[in-house]
Amino acid sequence: MCGIFGIVTEREQMLGALLLEAGRRLAYRGYDSIGCATIDGSGQIDLRKDAGKIDEVDGRLHFKEMRGRRGIVQLRWATFGSPSQANAQPHLDSDGDLVGAHNGNIVNNVSLREEFLAQGMTVRGTNDGESCVHAVERYVNQGRDLVEAIRCAAGDLQGDYAFVVGSSNERGEDGHSPLHAIKKGSGLVVGLAEGATCVSSDLPSILPLTNRILRVFDGEMVTLWPDRVELRRVDTGERIERAPEVFTQGMDAAVKGGYRHFMLKEIHEEPQVAAELIHWLQASPHVTPFLEALTAARRLYFVGCGTSYHACLVGAAYFNQLAGIPAVPVLAPQFRETLARTLTADDAVVLVSQSGETKDVLNALNASRPTGARLLGVLNVLGSTLMHASDHYLPLACGYEISVPATKTYLNQVLLFLYLADRVRAHGDKVDWAKLPDLIATTLESTDEGAQYVASILNPLREMYYLGYGLTLGMALEGALKLKEITYAHCEGILSSEFKHGPLSSVYEGYPVLFVTAPNDAAMMVNHVNEVTCRGGRAIAIAAEDALLRQNVHDYLVLPSASQEVATLLSALPLQLISYYMSVARGIDPDFPRNLSKTLTVD
Ligand code: G6P
Repeated sequence: MCGIFGIVTEREQMLGALLLEAGRRLAYRGYDSIGCATIDGSGQIDLRKDAGKIDEVDGRLHFKEMRGRRGIVQLRWATFGSPSQANAQPHLDSDGDLVGAHNGNIVNNVSLREEFLAQGMTVRGTNDGESCVHAVERYVNQGRDLVEAIRCAAGDLQGDYAFVVGSSNERGEDGHSPLHAIKKGSGLVVGLAEGATCVSSDLPSILPLTNRILRVFDGEMVTLWPDRVELRRVDTGERIERAPEVFTQGMDAAVKGGYRHFMLKEIHEEPQVAAELIHWLQASPHVTPFLEALTAARRLYFVGCGTSYHACLVGAAYFNQLAGIPAVPVLAPQFRETLARTLTADDAVVLVSQSGETKDVLNALNASRPTGARLLGVLNVLGSTLMHASDHYLPLACGYEISVPATKTYLNQVLLFLYLADRVRAHGDKVDWAKLPDLIATTLESTDEGAQYVASILNPLREMYYLGYGLTLGMALEGALKLKEITYAHCEGILSSEFKHGPLSSVYEGYPVLFVTAPNDAAMMVNHVNEVTCRGGRAIAIAAEDALLRQNVHDYLVLPSASQEVATLLSALPLQLISYYMSVARGIDPDFPRNLSKTLTVD
């Protein structure tokens, strides 16, 4: 989740320290590279950037020495192109008089790069932010002014992004020079300070300078001068008048993006991070070798702990059901004690961990290594131990997840498994990946109220059951874990057909049991529902609309209509929301539940 910040000031000054401070305030979004560019009054561009953490890179490049009237800082979280000096942002155009940086994903990056190279431009890296700069350069070379060139370039850039750019050659009538920024799908806000204006991916980097904020919407661009900004529509070039707002909430609210908790913010980021991961998977050359290692394996194990293990359960079910490839999900410590002992060099182990540092997972990896089995990592934190120790790895591309309960990383773990299984699927129709992010957004919106209602039913209780069947077993277990983690209630997730083999004795009049159901399993689930309701239990369904199921349950949280495998993925959203609302109703801070740690580096 990259972040950009740009500033235009009245007087030439040491801008480096200010850019560094803005960068620090963007760092919570997650990054692996940092770069700053300043442009002084004579149009001289100073560009310094590299892979690494802010202080480390500053120690080498001395950002604080950078002078200018205009400045850009960018924190990069690698998606297109490895974390490296060449791929770090900002980027220059071919002859070095344009400098710009972006945040987001340009999905036609690969074909654009080929066009730029064929047209003789100097392309220095493989990062898609560089493509934004060259896309503008193409139109500047045709003699267009910068506003026109950016508007034309926007027509060539596919994907979601925010982009800031400046030229060493552009000068206004008053002798000042502007920066320009454009928004399409990624966050962008403008700040109006005394003697300066600035633009950023989000508020935290702006608020220390000013609380006069101008909102920018998708399809708009803004030109920043030291004393004013000009807002335009990208498609027509028409000017827009919009009054600034005064942001009165504190920094904590700004960092949480207006949400009460990080958990809710991170749940609402799911459509965006899903889109980013899909784009990455579709474009990355890393997917094929990963998939080859996985499909060539004689035996295939999916290994993780906690939430990541539940993603393994769903992922293994996808591989078995869709791809016809036997995959076995195993808890990491149990894997070390049992199956790791019988591994051979023909086997593959997929190790799944949001943090990439969970000791139990690393123990499983270390136990597997001597056998020669292929070790495949799935992780969110780039640079983690798991990333370095894996033969191949795939990232979850979620940016930082601050809240202790995993939400967006879980959704992307399941999505990643679905994507891989879909690539090699043997049965059914392929997933429509272009539509999935919108479906996730629709699910969030349409299930929010129902989730609050279900939370109100469960809240008075100290213990309950979540049941799943087939693909949804992992979802039910994850929903139950999320509830345990942040409400302190005991919630057990099990296979719905197992409920009759013991747990059924816990049912009394009004006892709620929640059934997470994928469309093709509705008829089977009705049997399991009736075992509960005929004993006075209260059945709650989470499923796409199904007449039979509706007749048999007391409460119905409706998912949008989708295929078996996509409906399974969508059920994660209301389950996360139920836990969130119940946690808040109990007066618990869901971001930091008692006794738990985001990263567990002990056995
Ligand atoms: C800890 C956290 C859990 C998490 C588990 C695995 O126990 O409290 O929420 O699911 O670690 O974490 P990982 O980083 O390996 O996905």
